[in-house]
Amino acid sequence: DMYFYGTFPEDFTWGVSSSAYQIEGGWDADGKGPSIWDTFTHVPGNVNNNENGDIACDSYNKVEEDIYMLRALGVKNYRFSLSWPRIFPTGRNNSINSHGGLNYYERLIDALLAANIVPQVTLYHWDLPQALQDVGGWENDTVVQRFKEYAEVLFQRLGDKVKFWITLNEPYNTAYLGYGTGTAAPGISFRPGHAPYVVGHNLLKAHAEAWHLYNETFRARQGGLISITINSDWGEPRNPHSQEDVEAARRLMQFFLGWFAHPIFKNGDYNEVMKRRIRERSLAQGLSKSRLPEFTESEKQRIKGTYDFFGLNHYTTVLTYNQNYPKGVMSYDSDRGVATVTDRSWLSSGSLWLKVAPFGFRKILRWIKEEYNNPPIYVTENGVSERGAFEFNDTWRMHYYRTYINEALKAVVLDGVDLRGYTAWSLMDNLEWAAGYEEKFGLYHVNFSDPALPRRPKASAKYYSQIINCNGFPDPATGPHPCLGEEPEGAEIALYVLFALSIVGALSLALFAYKYGKLSKRSHKQSHMELSSKL
Ligand code: BGC
Repeated sequence: DMYFYGTFPEDFTWGVSSSAYQIEGGWDADGKGPSIWDTFTHVPGNVNNNENGDIACDSYNKVEEDIYMLRALGVKNYRFSLSWPRIFPTGRNNSINSHGGLNYYERLIDALLAANIVPQVTLYHWDLPQALQDVGGWENDTVVQRFKEYAEVLFQRLGDKVKFWITLNEPYNTAYLGYGTGTAAPGISFRPGHAPYVVGHNLLKAHAEAWHLYNETFRARQGGLISITINSDWGEPRNPHSQEDVEAARRLMQFFLGWFAHPIFKNGDYNEVMKRRIRERSLAQGLSKSRLPEFTESEKQRIKGTYDFFGLNHYTTVLTYNQNYPKGVMSYDSDRGVATVTDRSWLSSGSLWLKVAPFGFRKILRWIKEEYNNPPIYVTENGVSERGAFEFNDTWRMHYYRTYINEALKAVVLDGVDLRGYTAWSLMDNLEWAAGYEEKFGLYHVNFSDPALPRRPKASAKYYSQIINCNGFPDPATGPHPCLGEEPEGAEIALYVLFALSIVGALSLALFAYKYGKLSKRSHKQSHMELSSKL
């Protein structure tokens, strides 16, 4: 895995990312309704140290501070999400909270535009209005209509200024963590072989409805892009020579990234791997049909092609092999039948699930290119965490960004991946969901024990802004590169010195000649005067 020199395309966009619940605070400010994450974090035992997002980074009250950091980084775009219950406290469009809700986002967006930073707005980053959860949340298909109504108000009110929309962030996590393992809100885990699939089904429909609404009603006038962000690890066979391990890797990719990507980016339907595995196991369990719901033909038509780009969140890689579960076990995991390990040589991070394996980044980008017919891709999240006391010099994060972004560069230059932008996670330390504030992904440190919540750059903030400034990794052989803060070296210095000396030399010569000329003229004149006075 050699280091590769080169730069990204001219119009490549660089950014940082955040999400509403993780940074805003103001959980009940100015008429905001509760979200499922307010409910979840307020139940003791759900979150590490029983922490919550009541105040978080207080971004609700710190627009100026956040803009200041973004400007210092020199990013071209800022990806953030809107809190649905801040705008619709009851989840429905009969209760628009203009004062506290839209107002805040309007101020933020205006400040971004004034700073020449493009807003990338995610409509849903996991904080469903609790009022909608009370009627079943994403398991109840009326949520599709609710999401469409929510999206409509945002396109109407913010669409003149926002030209880059993401409908849903990581539907996989909403479905699997929220309704499968229950480790994320709403914390449902008692039907792990059904609920995640029902939820996934409604998420896909909700995304498609919002996309069509924008496409048909707003696009012509507003001219923006709208798509979805899908997350996935890269699955590498534990033993590349074992057919079983290779198949396990393929299953992992289809059950993870392919669950949502295949319907949207391919044919409107789930991939064959998922359809076959879940059907076979369901029938063997004595059920009359698959636990994976089916789309009707018109639903498939409605979902197929509802994208303007592929939004990708990627952090890590796993090594896969086959795992057989007892026949009776009904769960997403047993349907998938893949066990994973990591390589002991990979560096670790502040999160158990996150190992540093940059090669997987290039592979997943290429896989998306090949599997989904070369869509334009935006990486909407990528980054690494640490734990423990603040250390300014976060060498591990600089290493992570250097190696991961370098693999992305290889994907672009060597593999022809149509990568349009890269957005780092995250702008600043924030509430890392059920892991609380201990896992820190920020380029900026936030001191959560100081009520003023001061932000302070880590060394990686400066490093990332250098990558942005250089638009990648310029080749030292073609240097010096002022974007690297590079000083000319060795032979170059000698040349510069020679050049400078010759200029000094020429100047002093000219000056001498000029002065001498004057002097000789003057002395000539003087002697002439002297002579004439004598005469
Ligand atoms: C999520 C972020 C989260 C990050 C790190 C992503 O899954 O979108 O909200 O903080 O990964 O775990």
